[in-house]
Amino acid sequence: MAETILVTGGAGYIGSHVCKALAGEGYLPVVYDDLSGGYRDAVRWGPFMLGDLADGARLDQAFGAYRPRAVIHLAGYIAAGESVADPAKYYGNNLLGSLTLLEVMRRRGCEALVFSSSAAVYGEAEEMPILETAPIQPSNPYGHTKAMTEQYLRDFCVYGLRSISLRYFNAAGADPDGEIGEMHEPETHLIPLVLEAAAGLRAEIDIFGTDHPTPDGTCIRDYIHVSDLAQAHVLALRRLLSGAADKKAEAYNLGNGHGFSVREVIAAAEAVTGRRVPRRECERRPGDPPRLIADATQAAKRLGWRQCHATLEEQIATAWNFLLKRTAEGRQSAG
Ligand code: UFG
Repeated sequence: MAETILVTGGAGYIGSHVCKALAGEGYLPVVYDDLSGGYRDAVRWGPFMLGDLADGARLDQAFGAYRPRAVIHLAGYIAAGESVADPAKYYGNNLLGSLTLLEVMRRRGCEALVFSSSAAVYGEAEEMPILETAPIQPSNPYGHTKAMTEQYLRDFCVYGLRSISLRYFNAAGADPDGEIGEMHEPETHLIPLVLEAAAGLRAEIDIFGTDHPTPDGTCIRDYIHVSDLAQAHVLALRRLLSGAADKKAEAYNLGNGHGFSVREVIAAAEAVTGRRVPRRECERRPGDPPRLIADATQAAKRLGWRQCHATLEEQIATAWNFLLKRTAEGRQSAG
């Protein structure tokens, strides 16, 4: 029988790709999601339970009904800018929700967890590429919630919990089969916004800052394909379940090791789509570090992680494919 894995936030962008990867490896993903940022029709590979992360009784029901062997915890708010304007929202959901989940896991004797962390734990790192040993110094409440949840995980080892935190850099692209993809509401991420501008769904893309200390003046980010990211969760889960982890709480960077500037992303999108991307140069977005590039050597070494869709072109092409499919379906249902 397939082993059951509870996936919090499994109806979201990264969570739905994680569920597809789990099912592909013979696991049964059970999605627990409040649908605040996810979509019911992105839950396709196992049962769905509607619930709030901070609702301990509802979570407990999920554990009672499905008896998961492990948890992959992705549920959480994700907009760093919003977390500065509304920190209570982030500390409330991301932190209290994570604590509630850990308490229910403890009661139910579930002792393995893969956590969706972020490069935001490093804040404005001084050395590039960033190693896992770099100082943890988040520059916004969102990053603090990720760093503090990682701390809970280290402290909860005392109760027998084993965990792996995955520090994502910039997730991009969509399922190569076109089944699922990125649909945030509102969208704030660069690649989907650039593609919407290419498709004529928005007037232009705003380039946030052209005076950053980078070669072309725009910010540099390390983009990683969402299906590769998803695969890393399966590898982390296996490492936990097989007892291969050296430490009870581990953390790994997930990135490409290469950075692309905002202008380079726009140029690549124009090449992939064959369309012009209208753009406007704007002020810097507060809190944007000029450069974020991962050193993901440890994930390769310890998790055996390999990227299958490493090029920016492939990331953009799969995202474009999903956007075209979604807008065509929208037209059909409207007509
Ligand atoms: N950008 C623009 N115009 C836009 C949107 C973004 O120029 O309309 C720029 C940003 O200034 C940034 C880059 O494009 O330099 C990427 O921005 P995103 O909003 O796509 O992603 P971020 O790097 O800000 O953040 C993402 C995740 C975070 C995570 C971080 C880790 O959203 O959750 O990556 O690297 F913490």
